[in-house]
Amino acid sequence: MKGIILAAGNGTRLYPVSHPISKILLPVYDKPMIYYPLSTLMLAGIRDIMIITNEKDQENFIRTLGDGSRFGIRISYAIQHVQRGIADAFIIAEDFIAGDRSVLILGDNIFHGEGMKTLLESAAKNESGATVFLYEVHDPERFGVAEVGSNGNVISLEEKPKEPRSNYAVTGLYFYDGSVCGFVKDLEPSDRGELEITDLNKTYLAEGSLKACVMGKGYKWMDAGTFDSLNNAQNTIRDIQNEEDKKVACLEETALEQGFISPSELKKQIKKEKSEYYEYIRKRVNELSR
Ligand code: DAU
Repeated sequence: MKGIILAAGNGTRLYPVSHPISKILLPVYDKPMIYYPLSTLMLAGIRDIMIITNEKDQENFIRTLGDGSRFGIRISYAIQHVQRGIADAFIIAEDFIAGDRSVLILGDNIFHGEGMKTLLESAAKNESGATVFLYEVHDPERFGVAEVGSNGNVISLEEKPKEPRSNYAVTGLYFYDGSVCGFVKDLEPSDRGELEITDLNKTYLAEGSLKACVMGKGYKWMDAGTFDSLNNAQNTIRDIQNEEDKKVACLEETALEQGFISPSELKKQIKKEKSEYYEYIRKRVNELSR
């Protein structure tokens, strides 16, 4: 299974902070935003990941994450030259996906919860169709909105409806079977000139193969695309980390727990690092290798 992180936006809603650097590299408390979606993919057991950026920011992403080998994964990079919509990711990544199943996550989407790993692994088991992750919100008109039937299947999907039929926002995390690149080619651009992810999901809905995974009370979903939501995400991550005495989206820790790298490799890697983040990792490596 392949993973894709879409991080090509210009982040204009966060200007001037995102003027010198991509929004997806801005700090969310103690790590760059991209760490969060990347850790979600790693938690799903995915080790082959493509990061799609815009041209001017690609170098910074490469400097931040490299080829992924230090986390025991393989990261490749691609450029989206024109913002043609979220579903365009499957045109850009077609060769990388090579007919495999895939997971797309938006670079500004942050997921957290005790059961996240189990939830992701169960979605990854579906051989066919697509799975969307839903989260109850008080302002559904800002998102893609799904209506869910009594059997847990999606009944309807709408992008930013004026009169939402439910409070379930469709989050920016999508699991697809091998048909996805073919389906995208049949999509028409929307009125705003984009290949809409909601239209892609409607293709699966029409086929009767769109599943919903509702994230209940034990989960947190944050989209950090505005000043308020970014600030809220930063405070929430700090509070969670203080409460749980465990970091959220610490890539080295996730790699260790997933068995992608060994404690001795990690110890060697961070030998010279001095920040509080790496002190935490040193403590975790010692605990986990006891
Ligand atoms: O966050 C979840 C929501 O994401 C979903 O509920 C909506 O259905 C979905 O359309 C999307 O809505 P947004 O209004 O958040 O989409 P936005 O255009 O802001 O793009 C989301 C991220 O994807 C953002 O970080 C920029 C990036 N992006 C977007 C487009 C359209 C790209 O990298 N390339 C693109 O062409």
